[in-house]
Amino acid sequence: MAHPSIVILTGAGISAESGLGTFRDEGGLWAQHRIEDVATPEGFARNPQLVVDFYNARRAQAAEAVPNAGHIALARLQAEHKGDVLLVTQNVDDLHEKGGSEDVLHMHGALNSALCSACDHRWPAPLEMHVAQACPNCAAPTARPDIVWFGEIPYQMDRIQDALERADIFAAIGTSGNVYPAAGFVQMATHVGAKTVEMNLEPGENVALFEDVRAGKASETVPKWVDEILG
Ligand code: APR
Repeated sequence: MAHPSIVILTGAGISAESGLGTFRDEGGLWAQHRIEDVATPEGFARNPQLVVDFYNARRAQAAEAVPNAGHIALARLQAEHKGDVLLVTQNVDDLHEKGGSEDVLHMHGALNSALCSACDHRWPAPLEMHVAQACPNCAAPTARPDIVWFGEIPYQMDRIQDALERADIFAAIGTSGNVYPAAGFVQMATHVGAKTVEMNLEPGENVALFEDVRAGKASETVPKWVDEILG
């Protein structure tokens, strides 16, 4: 294949070496916080201060974080590969962008974005958001973190599905394969005959569905894989 079309899905593992916690590793975020309290619409309705504080802390940490060789290698792939590359991330940090990637598809939202629950307006989130913050568009006190919580629909699924249907290569990097629809992308890619590769520290839940499995740290496995693709 001269210029294969590539779809990449990244998860928290690619940002681990940049110091940002993952969710399900030992001592991960879901060991420190209850998902139903900080990552559901019900939790936000019940205690908005707790949720705003949780994302303010993650936003402040992400603001200080530096991209690692994994992020930088994917930016190089996007810049140099002659075929299509779609970079989909479950991460809400901006380390792909800091590493030089453009057109990053944040399917679970982004810490740097704020959303109005009343009018759906989006704007750059301040470092510190407040409860009942006014929307700059409709002035209602209904600002919230622009994060896709459990029970909500991930963003741009049409675009992702369209890219997967045309994929020649699908790579999942630093994701445990626990959360759908992202964990199902490998089946969609396999269905259209794409080559599939997992690059993870520990095998993901859906590792059996990948034809190529590369264990290790993203800062090592991803640059090596990108070198192979760019030949
Ligand atoms: N290099 C590569 N992979 C790593 C590294 C590393 N340095 N460190 C950890 N990993 C791997 C782990 O082995 C694990 O498979 O990253 C994965 C992290 O899994 P999770 O913590 O479950 O994170 P993720 O898969 O991104 O979670 C998906 O779940 O809670 C929701 O919305 C949240 O986007 C998140 C989604």
